[in-house]
Amino acid sequence: IPVECFDLVIFGGTGDLARRKILPGLFRRFCSGQMPPEAQIIGAARSELDDDGYRQFVREAVQEFGGTHYEKDQLDQFLQRLGYETVDAKGEGGWEALKGRLRDKVVRAFYFSVGPSLFGDIAERLRSFGLANEDSRIVLEKPFGHDLETARALNATLAQHFDETQIYRIDHYLGKETVQNLMAVRFGNMLFEPLWNAQYVDHIQITVAETVSVEGRGGYYDKSGAMRDMVQNHLMQLLCLIAMEPPAKFDPDAVRDEKLKVIRALDPVEPHHVVRGQYSADEKQAGYRVHAENPRSRTESFVAMKVHVSNWRWAGTPFYLRTGKQLRARASEIAVVFKDAPHSIFGEEAGRHRNVLSIRLQPNEGMTLGVTIKEPGPGGMRLIDVPLDMSFAEALGPDGEDAPDAYERLIMDVIRGNQTLFMRGDEVEAAWAWTDPIIASWVARNDVPKPYDAGSSGPEDALMLMHRDGRRWREIKA
Ligand code: BG6
Repeated sequence: IPVECFDLVIFGGTGDLARRKILPGLFRRFCSGQMPPEAQIIGAARSELDDDGYRQFVREAVQEFGGTHYEKDQLDQFLQRLGYETVDAKGEGGWEALKGRLRDKVVRAFYFSVGPSLFGDIAERLRSFGLANEDSRIVLEKPFGHDLETARALNATLAQHFDETQIYRIDHYLGKETVQNLMAVRFGNMLFEPLWNAQYVDHIQITVAETVSVEGRGGYYDKSGAMRDMVQNHLMQLLCLIAMEPPAKFDPDAVRDEKLKVIRALDPVEPHHVVRGQYSADEKQAGYRVHAENPRSRTESFVAMKVHVSNWRWAGTPFYLRTGKQLRARASEIAVVFKDAPHSIFGEEAGRHRNVLSIRLQPNEGMTLGVTIKEPGPGGMRLIDVPLDMSFAEALGPDGEDAPDAYERLIMDVIRGNQTLFMRGDEVEAAWAWTDPIIASWVARNDVPKPYDAGSSGPEDALMLMHRDGRRWREIKA
């Protein structure tokens, strides 16, 4: 369904995120016919470029990151929708000219694809130069603050210029196909919700494993670490969607109210329920400290933890979270591990299996439900586990592979004015309020992360975190 006509300004329009994700994503929406032909996209940054120079930049970005399913004509037409203005985010330069390009009676959206230190300056100028109106939207990238205090300050600054209904804080994990499907599965079926609680669920595992290192972005990463970079936002959002109560409606505040309640129900984490890791060097490549350009760094590139959601639904069912760089495979998964059947009528020798609902975020998006059946053949009653498998790419047919990626879907939601998949200010603050004490306890005891080999599943202690509870992590495999 096409969206309304819009003017989208991308601050940081020549930056890496714009080049890799935002612009190629917008191009794909253009090709799919979702973008109205008169829509306008304006890059804004410090570089001295003109419209043609920017079009060339975008052409190269699309050629590199925009896939292959398009005609040359489509790219030429898309580039006609683009313009560029040199803007000084902290000064006066360029703002009037930028304003001159904006049209009345179309949706105005401003994407802040810049560091958070510029959020306040840009928000203020959008108002003082009269670029933003009551209906304009601003889109903000993470990191949204460094801790509770900075997040609060940022929210307060933005609130001086914009209403909460105009602020779109992106967590791109919420734009992923499977993440949205998780809500469809939970709340669109009768099958799962009655079992979705501590009575039937033994535990839940959330894994976001990456193979990439931090090489090239050590400056940012070393000040953040896995906890701030991934857990406070992406893993927390996944946890919320898995654990939340059914919202009364699929509307922005109904969904976000329920997510917020989950964050507020999280117990403080016991220090011995968290394992931090840092990848070491091997014969092929340097270790974390070299990539981070900090020989004494104590920042974690891996974290695993056991978390409790203290409410009626989840009391007694732990959530195990882990994420890290340089792991065995790029594999993100949520696994809901159900309890054993209360009594085995076939005897222990038949074997016992647990139902596991595995929700794969990437790669090979899909869901698998492990079901126990009799092993076919004459061998008597032996039980085996077979997957009921639903790969989305297959289920959606050939077009499934071209399904919009997280960024393009979220940008279209901004134009539609739908905040459901964006973080509200209080959610972000609650997430920091929970993470801050964990980080503070590491600082207080000068915690040194455990080394782990590149290509492994993380430090040994992370395995022990589950072994101690008589449980096992699921294998990290692509
Ligand atoms: C970003 C983090 O938010 O998410 C990165 O800053 C991480 O460190 C990335 O690599 C992972 O995103 P995706 O979509 O590749 O899983």
